[in-house]
Amino acid sequence: MTHHTPRPARSIADLATPAVVVDIDALEHNLAAMSERLPGALLRPHVKAHKSTALAALQRQHGHHHFTCATVREMIGMAKAGLGDDLLLANEVLDAERLAALAAVQDRAMITIAVDSDATVDAAARAGIQHVLIDVNIGLPRCGCAPHDTARLAERARAKGMVVRGVMGYEGHLMVNENRATQRTDTLAAMDVLRAAASEVGGDVMSAGGTGNYDVHADHRATTGVTEVQAGSYALMDTYYSTLGLPFRQALSIVGTVVSTHDKWAVADVGLKSLGMDHGDPTIADHKVWFCSDEHITFATEKSADATTRAPQPAVGSRVRIVPAHVDPTMAMHEHLWLVRGDEVLDRLPIDLRGW
Ligand SMILES: Cc1ncc(COP(=O)(O)O)c(C=O)c1O
Repeated sequence: MTHHTPRPARSIADLATPAVVVDIDALEHNLAAMSERLPGALLRPHVKAHKSTALAALQRQHGHHHFTCATVREMIGMAKAGLGDDLLLANEVLDAERLAALAAVQDRAMITIAVDSDATVDAAARAGIQHVLIDVNIGLPRCGCAPHDTARLAERARAKGMVVRGVMGYEGHLMVNENRATQRTDTLAAMDVLRAAASEVGGDVMSAGGTGNYDVHADHRATTGVTEVQAGSYALMDTYYSTLGLPFRQALSIVGTVVSTHDKWAVADVGLKSLGMDHGDPTIADHKVWFCSDEHITFATEKSADATTRAPQPAVGSRVRIVPAHVDPTMAMHEHLWLVRGDEVLDRLPIDLRGW
């Protein structure tokens, strides 16, 4: 049997599709813009947005040594990659086996996990986890204990021998509001709740925020008391956040091959199985996307009635760049990404933190 080593791709036209491509200049711009506003430990980049230790290492080069994770797999992967200076699992975990595996890397990494109930405190203690944050519900109907319950949970965790480093709260319901003045008022009100909890709990960490309101946090941290922001999407970006006028560029796209063309539409090989779709349809420059199906995206090639789109007819076999509406689930579907500059392919990086 002969083994063929794939020819190294030089241009995006050589890539097998669907292919995740990340524009290095846009990425570098985003990392620099963020680290200027939130330098060093003021940003705890969320790695769930890219799931790549190589990209986390780039974020560290920009001065951020503390990271946020959403899964035990991400935590352990980061620790094993030597990126474990200070890792926060901003999520609740009850699985004893996974918690034990996480506790086992505490010899090489600083591990802290979020807890929001008796059961999560007890599971962390049983596994031998040494550091926790009390996760406080500050308005998003998801995880986080009721604000009045924080002191009791902190007490329970300390009684079981764990260090309570402080609090976290994720105001995910406030991330996208085109009325940025309202977003600021709402964020500050949520931080009032978190700060009250922080004073009950003690410790020195108050962790919150994301890409959509990172600047509110940067501007007001002296009064809110927030010590670190958990933004993740800013590195690669998606169309969900593009309406806010943030200073981040679109670094991520999925390259597809046009596999079929028709009078009024064309079809490329990037569908639901290679795109996170929960924030809506992806976009293609100059074309209106009609819909996605499992393996396909169908987009218009006729001029729109308002003539705002040029809609050139692409040739079968040509490449299109598709911009996802939601970066995180998109990245989780792919095994590697290609770093590019324009159409030139520079490097291939594994998306090595996938799974749970
Ligand atoms: C706990 C937590 N913190 C922070 C974020 C911020 O992410 P983003 O940069 O996408 O706003 C998220 C995203 O969903 C999250 O779940």
